[in-house]
Amino acid sequence: MTQPYLNYDVISNDYDQRYPSSQHWERGDALLNLVRQIKAKTILEVGSGTGFWLNLLHQVTPQLYGMDFSAGMIARARNQPAPLKLTRGTATQLPYQTATFDLLYCVDAIHHFEDHAAFIREAFRVLKPGGTLALIGHDPHSADGSWYIYDYFETVYETDLLRYPSGSALRAVMKQAGFQDVQQQNVEHVLNIHTGEDVLNEPFLKQSATSQLALLDEDVYQAGIEKIKADLKRAQGCGEQIVFKSDFWVRMFSGIKA
Ligand SMILES: C[S@@+](CC[C@H](N)C(=O)[O-])C[C@H]1O[C@@H](n2cnc3c(N)ncnc32)[C@H](O)[C@@H]1O
Repeated sequence: MTQPYLNYDVISNDYDQRYPSSQHWERGDALLNLVRQIKAKTILEVGSGTGFWLNLLHQVTPQLYGMDFSAGMIARARNQPAPLKLTRGTATQLPYQTATFDLLYCVDAIHHFEDHAAFIREAFRVLKPGGTLALIGHDPHSADGSWYIYDYFETVYETDLLRYPSGSALRAVMKQAGFQDVQQQNVEHVLNIHTGEDVLNEPFLKQSATSQLALLDEDVYQAGIEKIKADLKRAQGCGEQIVFKSDFWVRMFSGIKA
């Protein structure tokens, strides 16, 4: 499909609000464990954004490459303490030589790429023999999650089902591209609960905080906010509290270039 285009240059200044320094990230632990387990030295993140995850990996290797389509996100990544080798490009035509990396990974990015299969073939090409591909993210197709954003904002859930490849589709495409030992594991349980009006202060409710809301027209976004406020008012009138839940698993799909 043609992916809905989100201009990350516009939201690059606000993007890191999603990474408060007080929070511990299990998906970061999963990445660090993987790097140590496979002894990866030369690492590429595709859709590297502001370089948050690459910076975390600097404790294990200095050979850190980031590639992103957005010049604004790359400019932010240049402010990370770790020296990152950053390039602008697109996931379906990776600007690297064949057999360059020990590990290529993506976090929360594959749903933006216009052709998942083409990207995965490119990932296979630029990995060294024995190298690992790891794709980390949320899967709206899975039945074991819920996110109140999907209940309040029109079209967001349907758009996500189209943008995100399902776990089974991703595994199939990885195998087709030649990856072996293709595995899937849960790496982080996202569980954020906001009760009553507290939800209106939740950072992920800002339109610029997630691609789900940033893709909406302003009036559709405002209609969702008004729906939340109306429900809060109704609940208040009956002396009740609404619980707004984000409750889903972040998964990691991995495979080895034999
Ligand atoms: C949700 S952000 C994730 C950034 C980073 N991986 C993180 O977890 O913080 C998605 C990133 O993918 C990038 N992106 C979107 N389409 C792309 C493409 N076709 N090729 C490379 N990067 C792309 C965006 O510019 C954005 O920086």
